[in-house]
Amino acid sequence: MPFTLANPPRLPLIAPSVLSSDFGHMADDCATVINPPRGLGVEMLHLDVMDGHFVPNLTLGPDCCLGLRRAFPDMFLDVHLMVTNPENFFKPFAKAGADHISFHIEAVPEVERVRRYIDEIRALGCEAGVVINPPTPVEKILPVVEFADLVLVMSVNPGYSGQAFIAESLSKTRTIKAHLRPNQRLQMDGGVGPKTISSVLEAGCDVIVAGSALMGAPVDARPEVIASLRGPTGR
Ligand code: DX5
Ligand code: ZN
Repeated sequence: MPFTLANPPRLPLIAPSVLSSDFGHMADDCATVINPPRGLGVEMLHLDVMDGHFVPNLTLGPDCCLGLRRAFPDMFLDVHLMVTNPENFFKPFAKAGADHISFHIEAVPEVERVRRYIDEIRALGCEAGVVINPPTPVEKILPVVEFADLVLVMSVNPGYSGQAFIAESLSKTRTIKAHLRPNQRLQMDGGVGPKTISSVLEAGCDVIVAGSALMGAPVDARPEVIASLRGPTGR
C-alpha cells in the first residue's frame, strides 16, 4: 500500500512529472526514476491533468492514470487537476487509482466549496490538495490551507513543462508554510531542478515536482538529479 502524505516515509518527497516523460514509452520511462540504481528512487508520480480551458494544453485523463496504476501497483499517484470543473473528475481519478488529488483555488474560489470538495475527495479514499497560481495573491488561499493535506504553490504559470522558475513564488511559499501543521505537506511545481532546489527547500517545501530537469535528463543522469533534489539532508 502507498504511504500517506500525513505520514511520509522520508522528506522531501520527489514527484517526477509524467508530463515530461516519453509518451511513447511512458511506464518504461517512469520506471527509470522509480527503480534507478543505488536505491535513489522517487516516492510518487505527478500527473498533470489539463482540459484545454483552465489552461491552454490538453494532457492526461483517467485512463492514463489507470495505466500507470496497473504498471506500478504500489506507487503513490499524485493527480494535479488543472481544469475548470475539478469536481467532475474526482471520482474518475479515484477509480483510476489516484492517491492524492489537488485542484486550483482559481477554479474554486469559494471557501465552503473548497471544503466540500476536499471532503468529497477524502470520501473517495484519496488525500486532497489545493493549488495556487503565480499571479494569485496568497490571501486567496490562506482561508482554506487548514483543510488540505497538501498545498501546491505553482512556480510557473501552468500549462507546459520546461518553463523558467518564477522566484517570486518563494515569498508566497514562506507565508503558507507558517500556516501549516507538521503533518501537512507543501509542494512546489514548475522549473524546479538542481539550480533552483536550494531556495525551494529553504522556503519550506517538502514535496518537489520535477519535470524537464528530471525526465528530460539522460536516464543515467537521473539518479544524481534525484539526489540533488533531496538536498543536503534528504539523501
Ligand atoms: C506545469 C505542470 C508541471 C510541469 C513541471 O503546468 O503543472 O507539473 O510538468 O515541469 P517542469 O519541472 O519542467 O517545469
Ligand atoms: Zn503539475
